[in-house]
Amino acid sequence: MPRTIIVSPSMLSADFRCLEAEIHRLHETGCEYIHFDSMDGHFTEQVTYGPMVAAALRPLSDRIFDCHLMFTNPEKHFEHFARAGADVIHFQYEVTDRHAEYVRRIHDLGCRASIVVNPDTPIESVAPLLPECDVVMIMGVFPGYSGQEFIPETVERIAHLREMIDAGGHSTKIEVDGGVNEDTAADVIRAGADILVSGSFLFKHPQGYGAAVEFLRRTAAAV
Ligand code: DX5
Ligand code: ZN
Repeated sequence: MPRTIIVSPSMLSADFRCLEAEIHRLHETGCEYIHFDSMDGHFTEQVTYGPMVAAALRPLSDRIFDCHLMFTNPEKHFEHFARAGADVIHFQYEVTDRHAEYVRRIHDLGCRASIVVNPDTPIESVAPLLPECDVVMIMGVFPGYSGQEFIPETVERIAHLREMIDAGGHSTKIEVDGGVNEDTAADVIRAGADILVSGSFLFKHPQGYGAAVEFLRRTAAAV
């Protein structure tokens, strides 16, 4: 059945000398979301940026701000991201056992809540949380850098989560982050992804950002 997907370009691959121009270029592609990858240098190797980038760009954009917190202590920062204009706040499953509480706290701040599962975290771990969370984001790579190679087992994990969501009658969306490109997008969509994060594929596409988004949409329509 033809599918429609949401594209969430990852600002980690943007040109940081001209973020305002990058946002305008992304708007022209018709993408629905903008993905912000915040890394704390503790949960991940590298440090990127905090909520200030989303805050600076918020007045320039009407898109959904999709904020991925790769933090050991994400709860200390939920409020800062909400104030910066985040619409979706993602936190990593691996950093806490207080998932339901974190989801509630994100909802209380007026944002959508997402739990992110790393490639080595069993997908069943999120089963009890599906009634609560708006999104589960499956990593196709280990968090840390853009441009990494997609881990092929991710496809089965997406399909498994799709089954769990459908069997339980939940409305949770499946987002996939890391390694989505022309070689992997069809399998990822066919397995049941609703939202695709796209970093290096989109920002380095030889025909421009619009061609990358167009490719992902055409792929979805064809599966
Ligand atoms: C990985 C980040 C991703 C990444 C995506 O740590 O969370 O959002 O930047 O980049 P690509 O699409 O290049 O894998
Ligand atoms: Zn991300």
